[in-house]
Amino acid sequence: MSIQFANRTEQMKASEIRESYKLMDIPGMISLSSGSPDPSLYPMDQVKQATMAVLDQYGTTALSYSATDGYDPLREKIAQRMWTKAQVRSSMENILIMSGSQQALEFSAKIFINEGDYIACETPSYMGAFNAFAPYLPKYASVPTDEFGMLPEELDKNLAENKKVKMIYVIPNFQNPTGHTWSLERRKAFMEVVNKYEIPVIEDDPYGELRYEGEALPSLKSMDTKNLVIYAGSFSKILAPGYRVAWICAAPEIVEKYMFAKQGADLQAPSSAQLEVDMFMEMFDLDEHVKKSVLLINIKEMLCCK
Ligand SMILES: Cc1ncc(COP(=O)(O)O)c(C=O)c1O
Repeated sequence: MSIQFANRTEQMKASEIRESYKLMDIPGMISLSSGSPDPSLYPMDQVKQATMAVLDQYGTTALSYSATDGYDPLREKIAQRMWTKAQVRSSMENILIMSGSQQALEFSAKIFINEGDYIACETPSYMGAFNAFAPYLPKYASVPTDEFGMLPEELDKNLAENKKVKMIYVIPNFQNPTGHTWSLERRKAFMEVVNKYEIPVIEDDPYGELRYEGEALPSLKSMDTKNLVIYAGSFSKILAPGYRVAWICAAPEIVEKYMFAKQGADLQAPSSAQLEVDMFMEMFDLDEHVKKSVLLINIKEMLCCK
């Protein structure tokens, strides 16, 4: 074929995770390749009621264009949740609704990375993030990581030696793929290094609420005294991934850049999905649903491993 593609397409490859979804049609197949919630845990009856209530109350608004920032009452609820779940004081101005946190990852590279810049990340890390970053032609500074998180002294060494590190990408809770959760000491030490070099951090936290036992640890964002952390949260694992409703929480100047990226990419997250997620939280207790789901996952895992 004589068509010339842009250089960036050379880095764009089929995601192995997405490709494996094709195998899911095989009866009895259980995929361990991605962090897919068990569909039997979706709260179908409640979702039906919330959907009907949205259509009754909002009518055509649910099917119309809406603001790029997202639906304000949902942004308010997320800001409150940022306090109860991640110990972050924020308001609606800090919250931008994303079409999945995957979109937040792509926009992060779009906003912070010029060709040849480095992204510092844990080793190993989430493959989907590398797919999202790839079109921006980054290089990687892979920072040694153990079961307590990224090694802060190794990060320090990397940042001291490599002035082209422009973004740090981490998953401190139930990391994908290792499942490890960073210790409190590591979180503190990491933020000290970050503050020293003043490099933006993408704190990807889709799994933080799915805790079987023990106390939740403070998010990096809650320790962020210099507004360097962009926290990415999602309803995918705590409610349903098909909604594609997620968010970032960051300083308003940073949120604005993501908003511009979103206007160019897809104008807004789907109006109906945002209204339905908001209505679900208005009518039902999302925390109760998460608690029940975590309990059921735990029981299923115990039965499965016996
Ligand atoms: C670490 C991590 N980040 C982000 C995502 C994307 O999630 P979302 O459905 O919110 O786009 C996933 C999905 O599995 C993930 O595992």
